[in-house]
Amino acid sequence: MPLISGNWKMNLSHAEAVQAVKKLGILLEGMKSELTKPEIRRLEAVEISIHPTFVALRSVQSVVEAESIPVMLGAQNCHWEDSGAFTGEVSPIMLSKLNVRYVIVGHSERRRIMGESDEMINTKLKAVFRCGMIPILCVGEDLDQRENNETESLLAYQVKAAVDGVSPDNLSKLVIAYEPVWAIGTGISATLDQAQQGCQAVHSLVGSSARVLYGGSVNADNASQLVRCDGIDGLLVGGASLNPDSFADIVKQSVIS
Ligand code: PGA
Repeated sequence: MPLISGNWKMNLSHAEAVQAVKKLGILLEGMKSELTKPEIRRLEAVEISIHPTFVALRSVQSVVEAESIPVMLGAQNCHWEDSGAFTGEVSPIMLSKLNVRYVIVGHSERRRIMGESDEMINTKLKAVFRCGMIPILCVGEDLDQRENNETESLLAYQVKAAVDGVSPDNLSKLVIAYEPVWAIGTGISATLDQAQQGCQAVHSLVGSSARVLYGGSVNADNASQLVRCDGIDGLLVGGASLNPDSFADIVKQSVIS
């Protein structure tokens, strides 16, 4: 089942987040009147997740459940312990109690700005599984690594380090987002070939059951071609997911013939 995930990063207050998800619900419902029957079936087969900030999660959960909005709840990060003296952190158990389904782990912004190590990412990934949720592990090369032809070896290193000790059963449920760092928030998406090669390289490391998303400057113009590439099982969308109109348009472009 394809997955389209919206990473809201450090944007939208809880009130704005509630407005955004309500609007998304209306747009997803309204979209059906413009789609053919096969397209509606494809829309119903797409899983959509939204990843608000921690302070907005509970409000968004209430709206999603009360109004039966067809999106799954996602988080952007978590700690690896269930509770304890970790000032400022949020535990995976707390997230699972809010019916969070997906947790982004190892986003390049957390690796780079917050100094998250591969070991921390591995521990977090296992904690997310332990609490019954699914990690969306982010991997990807920076521009220097691409120019030095290190993309594939870097992906292999990041994926292997992150999934060390993960059971084959959990590995088959894992979602990995291939996100070239140079494509994130720059408006310069990877080409279809680059995106597909990266996603296929990740598939070759974890098998065909795990889903591999592409992320990095996804918008309504490039979404439809990206999701049709063999080996790309969905999209991780940052900036364009903040506006419900553009996020709904990305979903629509992914299902229309
Ligand atoms: P972007 O972000 O779509 O704004 O490039 C993607 C991401 O960071 O996941």
